[in-house]
Amino acid sequence: MVFNNILETIGKTPLIRLNNVVMHIPATVYAKVEAFNPGLSAKDRIALHMIERAERLGKLKPGGTVVDATSGNTGFSLAMISAIRGYRCVLTVTSKISEDKLNNLKAMGAEVVLCPQEAKPDDPNSYYRKAEQLAKDIPGAFYVNQNFNLDNGEAHYLSTGPEIWEQTQGKVTCLIGAASTGGTLCGSGRYLREQNPDLKIIGVDAFGSVLKKYHETGIYDEKELYPYRMEGTGKNIIPGNMDFELIDKFVKVTDKDSALRARELARSEGMMVGYSSGAALQGLEQIQDELTENDVVVLLFSDHGSKYATKFFSDKWMIEQGFMEEQKTEVLK
Ligand SMILES: Cc1ncc(COP(=O)(O)O)c(C=O)c1O
Repeated sequence: MVFNNILETIGKTPLIRLNNVVMHIPATVYAKVEAFNPGLSAKDRIALHMIERAERLGKLKPGGTVVDATSGNTGFSLAMISAIRGYRCVLTVTSKISEDKLNNLKAMGAEVVLCPQEAKPDDPNSYYRKAEQLAKDIPGAFYVNQNFNLDNGEAHYLSTGPEIWEQTQGKVTCLIGAASTGGTLCGSGRYLREQNPDLKIIGVDAFGSVLKKYHETGIYDEKELYPYRMEGTGKNIIPGNMDFELIDKFVKVTDKDSALRARELARSEGMMVGYSSGAALQGLEQIQDELTENDVVVLLFSDHGSKYATKFFSDKWMIEQGFMEEQKTEVLK
């Protein structure tokens, strides 16, 4: 098969059965492996959909500038599309971003503005406010705003959801995924729930994020917020793409458990996937008692592990975080 450009290869990612890591779980478990997208993450889908919608509405014109606040993956996808369509791409990221992700954004030609991780969302130095300001200051700029732009969730409603339905032949009973903007879980979840009203939708949240508490109480509790290491899981704002009513429940997973699960996926399933994929697997672990052998679970594996080579795939990093004991290296004879 021949494609006219790399954007035509976005989507239609495989659904792959997990075997060794879920042997103790009664259900059948599949992973929707979004690392098969050309930008190595699910964010290719939303970036393309949001840009094409903006083009159609005249919000983004030839020679214009694409601006967003991104933890890295959406930025990479926006930069990839901008490179092909001739847009300037300006991205604000937090200082938590891995060096690998930062280098990848620059490799794609994006201009990157680093903002302090500890800045509160309404602080002018936060990566949200900075992006908003840049979009106002740069003539011809389009502020993508992935948190509140509903074309984010719609991209998954139109593609990821139908793909999962078709790939499971309508048998999916439970969808589990890390939630940040909510676009992936709620967009694909909304489509799947329309097909199967009994579908369970489980959001995976991080310790240090407000989502779970907000879901349970309707309260945005600042006391829930503190820095954590995982990327792509949890949020310090209530994003417009998060449909809390759709989600049955949130589970919180730790940085350590998620890192260990992601490492296990590489060693036991041959899948080198990212931090939030480890989080999704840990989420499954924590709700396994609610499943039976009749369940067909789909885990959202959002990105590729190569983006974390200097983070949880580095033994040195794991030891520094206290996630792993130092291991003696044996010299083989
Ligand atoms: C690696 C990774 N996993 C999961 C997510 C969560 O997806 P969503 O923003 O659609 O909730 C993100 C988004 O930031 C991500 O980058």
